[in-house]
Amino acid sequence: MRRVTSPSDSALFRAWPELRGRVPWVPLGCFPTRVERVSGLAPPDVELWVKHDDESGVIYGGNKVRKLEFLLAEAQARGARKIATLGAMGSHHVLATALYGRQLGFDVEAVVFPQPMTEHVREQLRADLAAGARLRATRGYLGVPAAMWRARRGEATAWIAAGGSSPTGTLGYVSGGLELGEQIARGELERPDIVYVALGSNGTAAGLLVSLWSEPAIELVAVRVTDRVVSGERQVRTLAAGTERLLRRALEADALPRSGRPPTLRVVHDQFGGAYGRPTPAGEAAVAAARSAGLELEPTYTGKCMAALLADARAGRLAGKRVLFIHTLSSVDLRPLIAAAPDPSSLPPSLRRHLG
Ligand SMILES: Cc1ncc(COP(=O)(O)O)c(C=O)c1O
Repeated sequence: MRRVTSPSDSALFRAWPELRGRVPWVPLGCFPTRVERVSGLAPPDVELWVKHDDESGVIYGGNKVRKLEFLLAEAQARGARKIATLGAMGSHHVLATALYGRQLGFDVEAVVFPQPMTEHVREQLRADLAAGARLRATRGYLGVPAAMWRARRGEATAWIAAGGSSPTGTLGYVSGGLELGEQIARGELERPDIVYVALGSNGTAAGLLVSLWSEPAIELVAVRVTDRVVSGERQVRTLAAGTERLLRRALEADALPRSGRPPTLRVVHDQFGGAYGRPTPAGEAAVAAARSAGLELEPTYTGKCMAALLADARAGRLAGKRVLFIHTLSSVDLRPLIAAAPDPSSLPPSLRRHLG
C-alpha cells in the first residue's frame, strides 16, 4: 500500500543545520520513506527489509526524487528557465526530471538513446511526452554528443547529468542515508548488516557511502546494471569524494561531522547480463518472486539488484543477517498520465518507430 505524505524536509538539514540556506533545496518528495519487514521472499534465515523509496513522491517516486530536490533547486538558484538532460529511452531519471521540472515551471528537454525495447520502456517514453518533455531521440551512442550540444544551447539552460548523478544530485542520497540512520536511531528497524542497491549512474550508492556510517560498519552492496565504463567501485568512490568536497565547502569544515565507520563497498558485476536494459533470466525470476511478495520491480535495475540479493541468500552468504533492499523504482501508477500522451502519428519518425 502506498503511504505518501506531503512534501517534507530533508534529513541533510536535520543532521547539519548549517547547510540550510547554503545548499539550494526545494521540497518535492514525501520523506521519510517507510521501512518494512518482508517475509516469504528470502530464505527464513535472512531478515529481509525494504526501504520504500518507491513511495518517495506523489506524482512520481523512486530514487530520482531525492536527487532532484537539490538539482532543480540549484537550477532555480542559477536563474535557469530550461532543464536539459540525458538518458536511455526508458530512463526513470528523464521521466522524473520531466514531471518535477515541469511542476516547477521549467521547460524540459532530454536527449534519449536506444535501449532494448520492453513494454516498460515504451511506457516511460509515452509518459515523458505526456509530462511535456521535448525528446531528442538518437539512433545510438554516437549521436549523443551532438544532440547534447543542441539541447544545452541557450543561456538559461541548466544541464543535469545522466541519472542526476553529479555531486549536487548525490546530496539526495546523502540525505537518504542520514534518514535511514534516523530510522535506526528511532528503532523503526535495527541496524542492517547489509544494504543492497542497484548501481546505474553511481549517485545512489555514492550518497549512501558518504552518509551510512555506523559502528560496526554496514556492507553496501551495489549491483552493477550498466557498462563498466559507466559504473563500478572507482566511479562510486570518485563521486562520493566529490560530494564530500561539496559538503565540506558548504560546511566550511575540514572534515564532515560523522561518527562510526564508513560502509564497506562491494560491487556485484555478475547480474549485468551484457547490456544495459537487457533482461536476464535471473532478473526476471527475481521480478516474479518479488511480485508474489508484494513488491513491483522491473528488469533493468531493481530486478537485477534483487537477483543478486537472492543469489547471495541461496549461497548462504546472508544467513543470520539483517538485509535491507532499497526499492528505487517508482510505484506511482502512470496509466492516467500515459492516457494523455500524444498520438504516435503526431510524433517525429525518430520517436514514432519506437512507440509503434
Ligand atoms: C529504478 C532505478 N533504480 C536504481 C537506479 C540506479 O541509481 P543510480 O543511477 O543513482 O546509480 C536507477 C537509475 O537510473 C533507477 O532508475
